[in-house]
Amino acid sequence: MKLKEKINKVIKKAFEKAGIDETPIPVSEATKPEFGDYQFNGAMALSKKLGKNPREIATEILEHLDLSGILAKAEIAGPGFINLWLNDDWVAKACREACEDKRLGVAKKSDPIKVVVDYSGPNMAKQMHVGHLRSTIIGDTLANLLEFLGDEVIRQNHVGDWGTQFGMLIAYLEEMGEDGSGSLQDLEQFYKDAKKRFDEDEAFANKAREYVVKIQSGDPHCLNLWQKFIDISLGHCEVVYEKLDVNLKREHVRAESFYNEELPKVIDELDAVKMLQESDGAQCVFLEGEEIPVIVQKGDGGYLYATTDLAALRYRANVLGAKRISYVVDARQAEHFKQVFKVAKASGFVPEDVKLEHIAFGTMMDAGGKPFKTRDGGTVKLIDLLDEAVVKAKAAIKEKDDYSEEEIERLAKIIGIGAVKYADLSINRESNYIFNWDKMLSFEGNTSLYMQYAYARIQSIFRKYGGRINGEIIITDTLEHRLSVMLLRFEEVLERAAEDAAPNQITTYLYELVTLFMRFYEQNPILKEGVDEKTKQSRLALADMTARTIKQGLDILGIDVVDKL
Ligand code: ARG
Repeated sequence: MKLKEKINKVIKKAFEKAGIDETPIPVSEATKPEFGDYQFNGAMALSKKLGKNPREIATEILEHLDLSGILAKAEIAGPGFINLWLNDDWVAKACREACEDKRLGVAKKSDPIKVVVDYSGPNMAKQMHVGHLRSTIIGDTLANLLEFLGDEVIRQNHVGDWGTQFGMLIAYLEEMGEDGSGSLQDLEQFYKDAKKRFDEDEAFANKAREYVVKIQSGDPHCLNLWQKFIDISLGHCEVVYEKLDVNLKREHVRAESFYNEELPKVIDELDAVKMLQESDGAQCVFLEGEEIPVIVQKGDGGYLYATTDLAALRYRANVLGAKRISYVVDARQAEHFKQVFKVAKASGFVPEDVKLEHIAFGTMMDAGGKPFKTRDGGTVKLIDLLDEAVVKAKAAIKEKDDYSEEEIERLAKIIGIGAVKYADLSINRESNYIFNWDKMLSFEGNTSLYMQYAYARIQSIFRKYGGRINGEIIITDTLEHRLSVMLLRFEEVLERAAEDAAPNQITTYLYELVTLFMRFYEQNPILKEGVDEKTKQSRLALADMTARTIKQGLDILGIDVVDKL
């Protein structure tokens, strides 16, 4: 339900009737329940323009405000705010309709677009580490969210599988002979060993360099070894994706190597539009207002990360036809994307109307505020972290109830992985993120367990009730009113979160919703004896909608619910 849009229309009508020829600024949610449901704060801004004091303007608007539909009451407050209360019957009816809808009243976009979401992007030579965790889960959430709202989402995993280090790696793989693939089980170690050989043995280093040239010129033997290496590495990533329960499959991999043949064309086309300039032997693009150029080809003919990204941009805008291209990548690459986007637009690789955005995120920190490391200072492997989450979740639920081993295993996966994801998604993505097991596995506060617990509790109400509900909603007190309005806000929250690529707007909403529901439930017993049938039905309907909203919200975040907890 687009509540704000509907209220804005009522205000616009009042403007017209009052003869104010301006577009009213949109209403916002009231900051406190005593200020109503929504607030209109636009009278102050009009004061200068209209040469009247804000309270006078607010009074005029109020006189013409229609209070027979969505709005029930309006009051002027302070210097000229207008506080707005929604009509109970209107809200009850809208809520009932949303309750009957599978999508909870969230419409599919009438003008869907194609969106490319670029996320995860692990580097093949190495194990995925915690840094990739954020990209993978934020990106997956954004993709799920846009998909739910009706856009056509194309997931793209820009895997780092190309570059000079692969010469070294496949030279080493060949040296290991038949058993080569066995030693790839520990990629980190394999990389270290290869690097050691490279640094210590001149002949090996030369061979590695030769191999770089050979792979890049398409030598079948070298490409074969390279492919073997990539397959095994990707397999490692897929184990992580599976554990993480994200929608990222082999078909979404569009690795750096995919653009190999496009790279010379990128250079030629930049040259054709006169954007290329030689500097110290390298081919560069100098952008207005920026001192450091974008290097697109090194003096030795080699291409760079930026060249590949330009080729990818061209492909995404022109072949895939994307109108929005979102890069979920570490904030430390901000400069890279700023430059690449500028070049892509200025060269005409990407049409003007395509939205390019870097969805930046901060670094993962430990409790002491330092970048997340293992006890001995190494990088934490993602897979170890996820396994630990499941072990910790087991301990947390074992205390709670007497489940069977099997049940514990199943629940622990859902809860443990959900906790890791939720904790990450619930903070402002641009902030650095402090990883804290105890906080993320708590039943209290803004955590996945709090949401899953509320969901399970509502399921247990329905198990006890046993019957079917008729969906009728009647609003008799303030908490019912507030809960209903909160439920109706779901669509607006999702749309805004999609626009801002901000999953934490969804978690903040879910937290407010569940907190409100818990209060509602404490004060308004549902199945207790003495509650009349109509009231019971209405409260059941609100509980049902709350549960479904939690489930849908968590589903977008890639987190499951459980019926019992
Ligand atoms: N492989 C890169 C890294 O780990 C991330 C790739 C992001 N996507 C892109 N199109 N550049 O830093």
